[in-house]
Amino acid sequence: MVRALQLHRARCRAKIPPKYADLTLGQLLQRPCPPEQAVALNKLANWGKLVTNPGFLNLTVIGDKGTGKTEMLSALLGSLVHIGVDCKYTTCNDMLAKCKATWKSKDMPESAVVAEYVQPKVLVFDEISGPDREGLESLSTREIYLIETMIDERYQQQKKTVLAGNIKTMEALIALVGERVASRAQEGGVLIVCNWPSHRKWARIEEFDEAVKKSGVQLC
Ligand SMILES: Nc1ncnc2c1ncn2[C@@H]1O[C@H](COP(=O)(O)OP(=O)(O)OP(=O)(O)O)[C@@H](O)[C@H]1O
Ligand SMILES: [Mg+2]
Repeated sequence: MVRALQLHRARCRAKIPPKYADLTLGQLLQRPCPPEQAVALNKLANWGKLVTNPGFLNLTVIGDKGTGKTEMLSALLGSLVHIGVDCKYTTCNDMLAKCKATWKSKDMPESAVVAEYVQPKVLVFDEISGPDREGLESLSTREIYLIETMIDERYQQQKKTVLAGNIKTMEALIALVGERVASRAQEGGVLIVCNWPSHRKWARIEEFDEAVKKSGVQLC
């Protein structure tokens, strides 16, 4: 009971997305998936096993939308939290929004927000993409500077960082976040490209109708 509560608190601190809050890699490894995703999951799990190894610092997970990147990375963090690793999940937009919120406030300097993302031993920096989704000039110079500052500080402190997003190629990632971030990600890093079909599908109408029959909710 105490252990369950500790785990719950650690997951909350790590900000794992609620959709995947209780997930671990073990659960995903048992679920049917395309063969390429099974390879990716094993690579991800192996990277996780090296969490205390000072090498293999970074992991980059790119690929098509709906392939399960966020789910797999949430599960990775879930498994790392289980063994007591200090982790944090953030989206790129969330980090930038928190930084920008300091511009109009005197309560907290921007550097303190950046420091929050430098502190954890493992950081997942997910959903890197621009408004045009092509990764071309869609982040401002200031936004790239903030990402660079955070990634460089983590790199200097030899902390493990996962960069992830709906980006098809390393070239597109470089175009988006710049050479400095990409080259740090590359050093001793592992690359996973998710290029199997999206798992996101429309609901099947038979299942929808069946659920409505069982719902019991009456609307006026
Ligand atoms: N092997 C699988 N079998 C069934 N569903 C899966 C599988 N892998 C992932 N999913 C589901 O696919 C959906 C999309 O996953 P997720 O949000 O992680 O994708 P993503 O790659 O991060 O997408 P995006 O690039 O758009 O952010 C989720 O509902 C997830 O549970
Ligand atoms: Mg995602």
